[in-house]
Amino acid sequence: MKALQCVELGMPDKLQVNDVPDPEVLPGHVLIENKAASVNFPDVLMIQGLYQFQPELPFSPGGESAGTIIEIGEGVESFEIGDRVFAMTGLGAFAEKTVAHENSVMKIPDTMNFETAAALPMTYGTSLYALKQRAELKEGETLLVLGAAGGVGLATVELGKAMGAKVIAAASTQEKVDLCKKHGANEVFIYPTGKLDRDQQKELSSKIKELTGGVGANVVYDPIGDCYSEPCIRATAWDGRYLVIGFAAGEIPKIPINLALLKGMKIVGVFWGAWVGMNPKENKSNFQELFNLHTEGKINPEVSDSFTLENGSSAIAHLKDRKAKGKVIITM
Ligand SMILES: NC(=O)c1ccc[n+]([C@@H]2O[C@H](COP(=O)([O-])OP(=O)(O)OC[C@H]3O[C@@H](n4cnc5c(N)ncnc54)[C@H](OP(=O)(O)O)[C@@H]3O)[C@@H](O)[C@H]2O)c1
Repeated sequence: MKALQCVELGMPDKLQVNDVPDPEVLPGHVLIENKAASVNFPDVLMIQGLYQFQPELPFSPGGESAGTIIEIGEGVESFEIGDRVFAMTGLGAFAEKTVAHENSVMKIPDTMNFETAAALPMTYGTSLYALKQRAELKEGETLLVLGAAGGVGLATVELGKAMGAKVIAAASTQEKVDLCKKHGANEVFIYPTGKLDRDQQKELSSKIKELTGGVGANVVYDPIGDCYSEPCIRATAWDGRYLVIGFAAGEIPKIPINLALLKGMKIVGVFWGAWVGMNPKENKSNFQELFNLHTEGKINPEVSDSFTLENGSSAIAHLKDRKAKGKVIITM
């Protein structure tokens, strides 16, 4: 089969498309013929050796894919050959076939196409967990989403709206905030790119306060970190929840801890992958909720760009270069 491979750490242009043997189907596993896979920020980090876990070289990047089961391993009872599924493998999705443990595979509804199914698991899985289990977002609350036109960002805009929140979406360009409006954001604004100086940080806080009638945001969803985090924490409402999702803008910020005291607010860590490992049943029920929301038309993953497997390195470069809106897909 063909697979996109990382044979040496570095930028996406170092990736190669190679012919490799089909993966072995171990007991408890299934073999999936992939139709689509989606790119996530961890793929960008992993090929450079910057992710929190690092596979041995050579490896095929790609954390999630969707396709059809073509082989069943010993002991697997919940799947059959021909089932339409998505798989969250963390690795190996940018290939024609992926072997996956049955616990990381889910059947997808007949009404969901493979591109949507590949785009959904990590972004919507993370965001539903963040808003529901971690922030306990309530109807009528204000939700501020940073990096709102990115993968997890746009998923959060839609889910926040579906949960009855007033959604404020913030991103770096007009095109990106327009997309957030299209996906249901109540208010949008553009923030500057690059390192924000003190005045720009104050302006960011003031903008959020202005859009929340001086009260501040009840919940802040922050996948970008760096110099954007502190001004958002300063513009959080009393009893607010600030969700630590990721650091796409670069640095891990250091926050004056007295802000949590002064605002009676919580800084809440979100590590979806670890939670899934510890709570597989609750995660399945979250996905059932996501499937229902999709059937009802309340969520609709945006696939903005699609690349072939041969051109898979460009898909990863697209995300790295901040050009992605919604999800970037690789099709097989
Ligand atoms: N905690 C968890 O469980 C979990 C799960 C999934 C993902 N994540 C994390 O969430 C973050 C976003 O992931 P994603 O898949 O949504 O990525 P993505 O689609 O690339 O979106 C990231 C957004 O960050 C913004 N950004 C700001 N500065 C950037 C920079 N220097 N380079 C690139 N983007 C920059 C961009 O929006 P603007 O241009 O509008 O600023 C971009 O749309 C990553 O840090 C990822 O590791 C965490």
